[in-house]
Amino acid sequence: MDKRGVVIIGSGLIARFHAQAVNASDKLELKGFCDLFSLESAKKAAAEFGGAAWGDYKDAFSAEGVNMATVATASCAHDEAVFAAAEHGVPVLVEKPLAITTARIDAMIAACRKSGVPLGCIFQTRWDEAFVDAKRRIDAGELGRITYAGIRVPWWREDDYYTKSSWHGTWAGDGGGSLINQAIHLVDWLVALMPPVREVKAFAAALAHPVETEDTVSAALRFEGGALGGVYATTAAFPGRGKTMEVAGTKGTIAFSDEATGTSRPDQLPFTGHQKCFEAFADSLEGGTPYPIPGEEARKSVALIEEIYKSAGLGRTENF
Ligand SMILES: NC(=O)c1ccc[n+]([C@@H]2O[C@H](COP(=O)([O-])OP(=O)(O)OC[C@H]3O[C@@H](n4cnc5c(N)ncnc54)[C@H](O)[C@@H]3O)[C@@H](O)[C@H]2O)c1
Repeated sequence: MDKRGVVIIGSGLIARFHAQAVNASDKLELKGFCDLFSLESAKKAAAEFGGAAWGDYKDAFSAEGVNMATVATASCAHDEAVFAAAEHGVPVLVEKPLAITTARIDAMIAACRKSGVPLGCIFQTRWDEAFVDAKRRIDAGELGRITYAGIRVPWWREDDYYTKSSWHGTWAGDGGGSLINQAIHLVDWLVALMPPVREVKAFAAALAHPVETEDTVSAALRFEGGALGGVYATTAAFPGRGKTMEVAGTKGTIAFSDEATGTSRPDQLPFTGHQKCFEAFADSLEGGTPYPIPGEEARKSVALIEEIYKSAGLGRTENF
């Protein structure tokens, strides 16, 4: 099988992990970086990791050998990259959240469907053993009747995480704060493991950081079928603790806790999860197992997040 030629859209922090994941894979080949915001930054990334640098989607998507894209731009700019990929017929895998609103996601799904371009979302923790094991046990009915499912992401970020970024913690750039940016991986686990959420009662506030969005969310959930649940997401819990998930039932309980004890800094992530994610997408393009997080699946976490923000009275969706 020929290697898939990958263009990385964006050249910031997570794009570097994308590049390492691509370079470590024998199924993928890095063709270069495209950054509409900063060609200089794309050039630096290309010099470090390989490939060319482009400041224009057209040049990047039509470059020789490019037949897969990963999107690693600020969350607000995911949709425009996907529209361009769809226009050029390039299968596209996008960082979480797929986009900052479900309205944008719907437009992305429609554009990809129209041009027959596969669209997937990067939730690299779906390949974690803890998730795979939880899904197997829940699907097999090992927990009996599920009575509760909750997640907690009690993290800390310094103020400069927000003040030095043009988009973190803004409605227009990030689509929210601790919930949509940091806690979304576990929100994704919840929506993948549980039936749909039917009711939400939530509070959200900016308690510790200079953000226009929230830095702390507390939500109570009721799932279809009656199970109750909870979401706690924050970047205001110094010094930060590991994230946890609990799913309890009449015959068993799953209690997940990761080992992160500090601030869970994004620059200290391993790239191996991304590699598994990218290879699963590439395999699906060769006719292998369908990629488990297509656009429709990735929409679910953003839809729940929208409901939580709405219940908390943030009126977020009206800002776009
Ligand atoms: N999967 C994960 O665990 C994980 C971890 C961190 C970040 N992310 C996601 O990756 C994406 C990028 O995050 P990052 O930390 O690399 O961000 P970053 O600020 O370091 O980089 C953003 C990149 O997007 C480009 N860009 C394009 N349009 C932009 C715009 N309108 N505003 C600002 N920048 C723009 C910038 O030039 C830069 O290359 C986000 O969607 C984020 O949610 C995922």
